[in-house]
Amino acid sequence: MIEYDADITSLTTFRVPATAAAVVRWSNLDELRAVTADESLPRPFKVLGGGSNLLFTAKFSGTLLVRSGAASIQRNESDWTIDAHCELDALCEQVAAAGWRGAENLSGIPGTLGGALVQNAGAYGAETGDFLVSARLYDLQSGELLTVDRQWMRYAYRSSRLKEEPERYVIIDALMRFLPAEAPANLAYGHLHSELGDREATPMAVREAVLKMRNSKLPDPMSVGSAGSFFRNPEVEAEMLQAEMPRYDLGNGFFKVPAAWLIDQCGLKGASVGGASVWVNQPLVIVNAAGSATAADVVALEQKIISAVEAKFSIILTPEVEHL
Ligand code: EPU
Repeated sequence: MIEYDADITSLTTFRVPATAAAVVRWSNLDELRAVTADESLPRPFKVLGGGSNLLFTAKFSGTLLVRSGAASIQRNESDWTIDAHCELDALCEQVAAAGWRGAENLSGIPGTLGGALVQNAGAYGAETGDFLVSARLYDLQSGELLTVDRQWMRYAYRSSRLKEEPERYVIIDALMRFLPAEAPANLAYGHLHSELGDREATPMAVREAVLKMRNSKLPDPMSVGSAGSFFRNPEVEAEMLQAEMPRYDLGNGFFKVPAAWLIDQCGLKGASVGGASVWVNQPLVIVNAAGSATAADVVALEQKIISAVEAKFSIILTPEVEHL
């Protein structure tokens, strides 16, 4: 199904007004091949998953590819084959409920598995790429179907090879490997251990603790528009650190500093431009709280934050949210 000059506001979790030259819905590989061979459709092609990490700053001049239909999840022992348009949190719930470990720390991250594999979405000490064995990709340049492994993906903090080559590949499905429930829980991050209390750390109990912590800090994606963390946590050299700055030693001469702390120190909690504002419980998140923000409001607030943090700390924040 092709829609031209489509209103795509409701296809992103930020819900700022946006349009695209074309949106195409496809459900199987034959349809994807036909769509991407159609010379009449505007280029470039861009896969739209859950739209949970995107900001459209102008009309998108190409064609958005949206996959429709049920997403399949199949398990063979510890190996799970999952369609890329599966909601990541639905997968986390199913894996934890079946008694497998690994995905529970990723609970509550909005968006699809495919989107999470592109940007290596992470939370509470786990990253989506950690569990990938291989993925099947449709190469829009050659028209071939490739199977690639985790090394090919070049995973790093919130990045991958797919994030560097955003217009080339469509993830079809992924083979993920999780661990049996007897494997140790990953409770090292922040207050996860204390949130769990004296409950046994089953995958489901850890999932519930993660969801509770997320809900206390992050806006509810159903009622408040946002794209989660707007900035990456900067990785800086030792000489950039100030005494009181929280930091995480990366062991390679660099330290990760919480951008939320830097923004907080600049007094920007609750700051706003037009309808865009800094979320008070977690200043790393820019929200469209009343639904009246435009992309220009968000970008103006982004610039204001970057300038304030640079002036105070000489650290330049980079956005984590993809701008189009
Ligand atoms: N902080 C403040 N003031 C605040 C809130 C936080 O100073 O009001 C500081 C504190 O020092 C706190 C630190 O920020 O210890 C870190 O906060 P938090 O544990 O919430 O994590 P984060 O670094 O802000 C990252 C991810 C989140 C993920 C959480 C939990 C990035 C860019 N963000 O946030 O991911 O949920 O850790 O693992 O790495 C996302 O990517 O959309 C996202 C929400």
